[in-house]
Amino acid sequence: MTTIKRKKLKLKKGAYILLVSIIIFIITLIFGLKFYKEYKYKQTYEYKLTTIGYSLDDAQKIIDKVGDETINYILSNPKNDLIIDFINEKYFIENNLNDYLEFYKKQEDETFTDIVAMVNTHANNKWYEVTFDTDINLNEKMIVNKFYALNKEYAPTDLKDISLDYSYGNEGDNKLLSYAYDEFMNLWQAANDAGFYLMVTSSYRNYEEQESIYEERKAAQGERKADETAARPGHSEHQTGLVVDMTSKTEPIESDFKDSKAYNWLKENAYKYGFIERYPEDKTYITGYAPESWHWRYVGSDAAKVIHDENITYDEYYAYYIEYKNK
Ligand code: DAL
Ligand code: ZN
Repeated sequence: MTTIKRKKLKLKKGAYILLVSIIIFIITLIFGLKFYKEYKYKQTYEYKLTTIGYSLDDAQKIIDKVGDETINYILSNPKNDLIIDFINEKYFIENNLNDYLEFYKKQEDETFTDIVAMVNTHANNKWYEVTFDTDINLNEKMIVNKFYALNKEYAPTDLKDISLDYSYGNEGDNKLLSYAYDEFMNLWQAANDAGFYLMVTSSYRNYEEQESIYEERKAAQGERKADETAARPGHSEHQTGLVVDMTSKTEPIESDFKDSKAYNWLKENAYKYGFIERYPEDKTYITGYAPESWHWRYVGSDAAKVIHDENITYDEYYAYYIEYKNK
């Protein structure tokens, strides 16, 4: 063999070894990547959730709706379909998940929607069993109910008298917080244009006035009955100066107001002026009060529109849109 031939053969051998090495490298790379991907996937919540039995869809829902802490709580328990039922609810609040599950154990006949509404609004507790301070800095968005209270001294600073043209009683008896007053007058005018003459029967009440109303009712009807229709002092929205009790001049009996055309007009239109019906029919399990067709609360037109369109109570609105979403 000539030295040239020997050199060529050596080169061929070298190229062959190089080619084989490249192929081995590529194969190792492909498998390495595949194993790495698998290893990485096994670290994901999607994999872990599907491993304990959740469908891919449900796993995705869980990942979308809750954070690490709740996912780890879910992963440390056996698969629970109730979790998905609650997550599917429109007003699901992550921090309340455990309370939904606990309350459901006691109230299996309730719908998931009602369980969520009650837990969100604290109505899974007995009335007045837990109480929080009302955040007065929220102004027209402040909440006052059986679980949120104003202190004895709280009084709005800027109250405006409602004229006797639009209210019963004596001059100075009826007052509203100035910005609620202005919107009330717009509402009044719109109602009047539509053919209704609204009259205010009660509006701002201070702590002591509320106390005597409540005590009187309690003496007459007993505590349970009184609690269905009158707020305990500190727990009445009337103390905010954001509320009007109304009737129609032509149908002046409060208890009949719900059958009046004026009431139907308010139901359809009051939200445009920022007022909502605060204690609607069939919502006592949330509001804690028998329906009060006459009691309208100013919350601002943004909130009023949502409450009207979504057919929810202010308690539900507050829990979801102010406490939870607005955080
Ligand atoms: N009647 C309403 C609930 C109140 O006393 O404030
Ligand atoms: Zn009222």
